[in-house]
Amino acid sequence: MQAPTDRATTDAHRFVPAAADAAIGPLLGGLTAAQFMRRYWQRKPLLIRGAVPDIAQFIDRETLFGLADRDDVDSRLITQRRGTWSLDHGPFARDELPSARSKQWTLLVQGVNLYHDATHALMNRFRFLPDARLDDAMYSYATDGGGVGPHFDSYDVFLLQTHGKRRWRISAQRDLALQEGMPLKILDRFEPTQEWVLEPGDMLYLPPHIAHDGVAIGECMTCSIGFRAPVAGEMMGQFLFDFAERADTLKGAARRLQDKGREPTTTPARLPDDVVDTTEAWLRNIQWNRADVERFVGRYLSEPKPNVVFDTPDNPPDEAGFLALARRRGIAVDPRTALLYDRHCYYINGEAGKLDRDVRDWVQRLADRKALEGKDFVTLSGGGPVTGLLHEWYCAGWIRAA
Ligand code: SIN
Ligand code: CO
Repeated sequence: MQAPTDRATTDAHRFVPAAADAAIGPLLGGLTAAQFMRRYWQRKPLLIRGAVPDIAQFIDRETLFGLADRDDVDSRLITQRRGTWSLDHGPFARDELPSARSKQWTLLVQGVNLYHDATHALMNRFRFLPDARLDDAMYSYATDGGGVGPHFDSYDVFLLQTHGKRRWRISAQRDLALQEGMPLKILDRFEPTQEWVLEPGDMLYLPPHIAHDGVAIGECMTCSIGFRAPVAGEMMGQFLFDFAERADTLKGAARRLQDKGREPTTTPARLPDDVVDTTEAWLRNIQWNRADVERFVGRYLSEPKPNVVFDTPDNPPDEAGFLALARRRGIAVDPRTALLYDRHCYYINGEAGKLDRDVRDWVQRLADRKALEGKDFVTLSGGGPVTGLLHEWYCAGWIRAA
């Protein structure tokens, strides 16, 4: 287990989108992204031997344990003893973790791509899928016999073996009932139909709801590249909340209930029908358009995870100094930043901005490639909207020198 290489670190800043029908090396087992998407994505599992041949260089155990000790990183410790499971939440100091010699425990560390450049670079290999669907890279370290038990996930996942061996058993079973009273989601009845032992560099793709169980054979590490599958109810609730917050979008919001000509009542506790009728009419009158929805989706999906904190530069240069730096080194999107765009707007870390003509090409290029090279800035003169915007993002810690 070695430290990340310089090459992998540099790669984190350079992403060149591949054409859908171009070969993307061994990642998808010789399939093009288009073939994979058509045949397997959201449809059926795929085992890919040797998907990431240089994987062992990416992260080592001590780096992972170090991340599990940070309070801005989400980590969990799962131990298993005679059929019962226990779950603890981090951060974990090194001496709070069981010994590597003790069997059947697992450390899960979420969002490693946000803090570890080589893992960020690894995630970039999956950008044949939109950023809006990519979630994070979670590592699991396990000692012999360790795992998180048979379960299913509601989202797609690529399970990439980074160190040691793990036996994966899977099933497309319909019965997804869970054991009661467990701190983890454990299937009550697991009936595996296929199994494989994965070695470093091997990867297993699973669509949502495929039952699976991975058990470590000796000490091992697995990286799960997980996807976002927002639940409709959550999107609906968040949209309505967001929409209501921007009161100027609620037409007629200043109106009040009126009841000229109301008859006196002998049942004062009874809720008058006309109050409900008026409210219903108001609600039916609420209208949103495509732009409102676009704005919501962009802001919602670019919202940083709750524990993310950006590192702002200590002595940020002024705009001219920033331009000189960008010309010298180029810039890269910080791995914690989510930068998306649509026809009219860009969305960065939960904020929306207009994609005006003078910034459009720059923002789109930066968003798709995650970096701009020094030479891109040579012809750019200071004081314009592009330098102003990028300088602002640099000062917020959202982008950095490459
Ligand atoms: C693991 O890597 O142990 C768990 C990942 C998963 O099953 O999704
Ligand atoms: Co899983």
